Amino acid sequence: MAKLKRDKGLDNTLKVLKEGYLYTTNTRNRLNVPVFETRAIGGKPFVVLNGKEGAELFYNNDLVQREGMLPKRIVNTLFGKGAIHTIDGKKHIDRKALFMSLMTEGNLNYVRELTRTLWKANTQRMESMDEVNVYRESIVLLTKVGTRWAGVQAAPEDIDRIATDMDIMIDSFKALGGAFKGYKASKEARRRVEDWLEDQIIETRKGNIHPPEGTALYEFAHWEDYLGNPMDSRQCAIDLMNTFRPLIAINRFVAFGLHAMNENPITREKIKSEPDYAYKFSQEVRRYYPFVPFLPGKAKVDFDFKGYTVPAGVGLVIDVYGTTHDESLWEDPNEFRPERFETWDGSPFDLIPQGGGDYWTNHRCAGEWITVIIMEETMKYFAEHITYDVPEQDLTVDLNSIPGYVKSGFVINNVREVV
Ligand code: HEM
Repeated sequence: MAKLKRDKGLDNTLKVLKEGYLYTTNTRNRLNVPVFETRAIGGKPFVVLNGKEGAELFYNNDLVQREGMLPKRIVNTLFGKGAIHTIDGKKHIDRKALFMSLMTEGNLNYVRELTRTLWKANTQRMESMDEVNVYRESIVLLTKVGTRWAGVQAAPEDIDRIATDMDIMIDSFKALGGAFKGYKASKEARRRVEDWLEDQIIETRKGNIHPPEGTALYEFAHWEDYLGNPMDSRQCAIDLMNTFRPLIAINRFVAFGLHAMNENPITREKIKSEPDYAYKFSQEVRRYYPFVPFLPGKAKVDFDFKGYTVPAGVGLVIDVYGTTHDESLWEDPNEFRPERFETWDGSPFDLIPQGGGDYWTNHRCAGEWITVIIMEETMKYFAEHITYDVPEQDLTVDLNSIPGYVKSGFVINNVREVV
């Protein structure tokens, strides 16, 4: 077995932030190795795994621990203390079943219907606007979809504020490096939203409000763990938020999707004319564009990866962006090509923009199906239901900056309904 090569430096966090999504691939190329170790987040050692083989190891619960590995500041802002993302073992599997129990055919159809209906109902508003910033417009629209889908009560006048709070929290994964100007604002946003949701959990339990059975609010409020205990109301609010805050984050993919349609106009025509194209297009948006860069874990035992020994106790990351752009998995990975999903075998270890492995036993995203559904319906809406112009703006997607964005947010004007 060869000895792992290390990227020099006592703490490469700044370098990671500077090179962004390309840091891991650049470093593998620089060192000319398939796997390397680096120091980050206060100088802690991390071995960077990537590709299908890397993902298979990373999602092996016997080899890899996830609990305790997310940076504290990200837990405090993005996920919430004690969130499903932060626990392992029996407790995780028990609570994850609750999340997955929401993903029924009926609930998935409902989110599809809500997305379609709410975009259509929003047409007149967009027609009347001089400019529509799609990033901003979709975060508000998805806040309506998410709150209704989860069965929580949100007054129309509160939607804008909730959308803004969600946006602030979602953006807080820039807290990766520790120093982050918006940290305080993120924590305050989280406190406001947790208060609002905890109140609804308490009122549901008391029987003062009656969310429909099968909704997240109802199921979370009434759930008991494997020991027969209900969730503490604050903890319950935190994980209830985890059923729809990430749904609102799909606005980033929406802006990326319109960016892709703009750069590849033929795809708009295909979405209109080919029944399955919106699906392939949405998968390619998730693969191609930069969102989640990598995910952290820790080796429980020694194991081998591509001829190198990864020692027990070392930090690990799975290189999400590197895997979705791995040349050995994706032909011409830096080309946007939805057709590649005609022959994709559905492996749980290569298309991992929302994590990989198994939905029930690993930390793989509980909302992946919802994400694809919302993207399909939204892309169909923008391709078929309206026409618009794309004025001069900065459409850069900077891979050196985490989180990734279309710089302008993607602005459109002259929106007209297709009749
Ligand atoms: C977990 C990404 C949408 C709920 C995750 C993970 C990622 C992710 C990377 C962690 C995987 C891991 O640690 O191995 C995304 C992205 C989304 C999205 C990029 C779209 C913008 C959603 C939606 C929902 C959702 C729509 C809910 C309806 C969750 C939950 C977890 C999770 C509950 C924790 C699962 C666990 O720890 O077992 N997501 N997600 N996500 N996601 Fe998503």
